[in-house]
Amino acid sequence: MQIAVSMLKKREQASKAPAVVYFLPESFSAKDLDPSLADCGLDIAAFLKDRAFVGAKGSSAHVVVSLVPKKFTLLIFVGMGKRNEQKHFSMETMRRGVGSAIKCVQAKKISEVAMLLPESSLFGISGHDFIKDMYAIASMAAYKFDAFITKKDAKKTMDIALCAAPGDQKASKDGAQAGAIIAQAVNRARYLNDMPPSQMTPTDLAHEAKTLAKEHGLECTIFDGKKIKELGMLGLHGVALGSDQDPRFVILHYRAKKANAPTLGFVGKGITFDSGGLSIKPANSMETMKDDMAGASAVIQAVAALAQLQADVHVIGFAPISENLLGGSAQKPGDIVTFYNGKTAEVRNTDAEGRLILADALAYATKNFKLDCIVDVATLTGACIYAVGPFYSALVSDNQPLADRIKEAGNRSGDCVWQLPFGDDFKAAIASDIADIQNVGDPRIAAGTITAACFLREFSGDVPWAHLDIASSSFNVPNISYVGKGATGSSVRLLIDLAMHWR
Ligand code: BES
Ligand code: ZN
Ligand code: ZN
Repeated sequence: MQIAVSMLKKREQASKAPAVVYFLPESFSAKDLDPSLADCGLDIAAFLKDRAFVGAKGSSAHVVVSLVPKKFTLLIFVGMGKRNEQKHFSMETMRRGVGSAIKCVQAKKISEVAMLLPESSLFGISGHDFIKDMYAIASMAAYKFDAFITKKDAKKTMDIALCAAPGDQKASKDGAQAGAIIAQAVNRARYLNDMPPSQMTPTDLAHEAKTLAKEHGLECTIFDGKKIKELGMLGLHGVALGSDQDPRFVILHYRAKKANAPTLGFVGKGITFDSGGLSIKPANSMETMKDDMAGASAVIQAVAALAQLQADVHVIGFAPISENLLGGSAQKPGDIVTFYNGKTAEVRNTDAEGRLILADALAYATKNFKLDCIVDVATLTGACIYAVGPFYSALVSDNQPLADRIKEAGNRSGDCVWQLPFGDDFKAAIASDIADIQNVGDPRIAAGTITAACFLREFSGDVPWAHLDIASSSFNVPNISYVGKGATGSSVRLLIDLAMHWR
């Protein structure tokens, strides 16, 4: 899907589009209706009353009228809901409203839409941030993974014109520019994850990082399988043993203008396909495992976006990338691996491979770079889906100030996180009789997402660390109108926001 989002200077221009979207607060009155609707040939207030549309959260109504002589226009009215305790409307309601309007337009096979946006002040945020968010959401909502659909009549373009309220016009150019960068990062991450796994191998994903580095002036270092083995990153090496595809370790480095700025480290799990290895997954659990690289693609795209946004912190993305298959040389349950930092782990289950590759990445990152924090992002555990459900990513950290920053970034960006408990009691779950630790948790301690995080914590040293399990939120999230089926780009917006607000 080719998506073009643009900004309209004048609200009157919107009437020319074949579909126009209006946002209305709950219990709106006739004066809230756009003046352009006055002579469309239909008493809009009466129509909306007839449809029992009062502007409630999650509601919408649509009708076709003639806004311009001899032309038919689809009008979509979207509810903004009520104000909250701070007297602001909800950004998430607004995002979902934008999403449902775009889905409505797409369902009617219309490929052009104009949206008359409300004032940013109603949401308690700046015009820049509001336009940025709306631009990114419109683009996310229009995304469809249709690269392999050959049907000729399939609509492959979507033109969205956003019209900022008069008070937001000044901020709209810069806001749109930032929104475009974020949208590109999110949708590109989704595209990489949605690609068939045989066409998005470790080499392909590393190539993406290299291309972005060239495009945006980033430093990019890529280790191949031989180098990974030489360096003693045997967790990553071990996981790759079952596959014919050579693994990769990607380091993507963005340097801010100020040399003494803080440095953030982002680490993303890049399993381009997870069969489970010899501890093979049942067929239905394997079906979505092309998405097991969502952490890596999020990190790579976020770093590229931060370079374009000229963030004032240094950011280094680390991505260990491999397939997890079960070829003749595959690692076996019972094997013991030694990681980059010298620690050993008993591999009791080859399907708990994410922590094995992340362990080396965390150890490498914290040993070779001076980092002010390290945040890893991974589709790490099935347990996460049951712990927090699809609308949140799970956050685990023993550094509360960092966890709080991540929560704030999550709330601002709409990429929500829910913090799980963490502490020494959980550590016992990964104790092994024959190695330093084991890669599965003691079933009596049950909390699989937390015990997986305990494993990772062994490798982050003294650097403030936080872990995001996005197994819940990265694929097939239901009921959120601006992310359809398939990959969601979970945590791309959060990582960008975190770095942009670090200060
Ligand atoms: N990639 C999976 C986790 C996953 C499951 C992501 C479902 C998205 C949806 C991970 O590698 C895995 O298989 N983890 C195991 C760990 C277990 C063997 C300790 C799991 O969660 O079952
Ligand atoms: Zn697995
Ligand atoms: Zn996995």
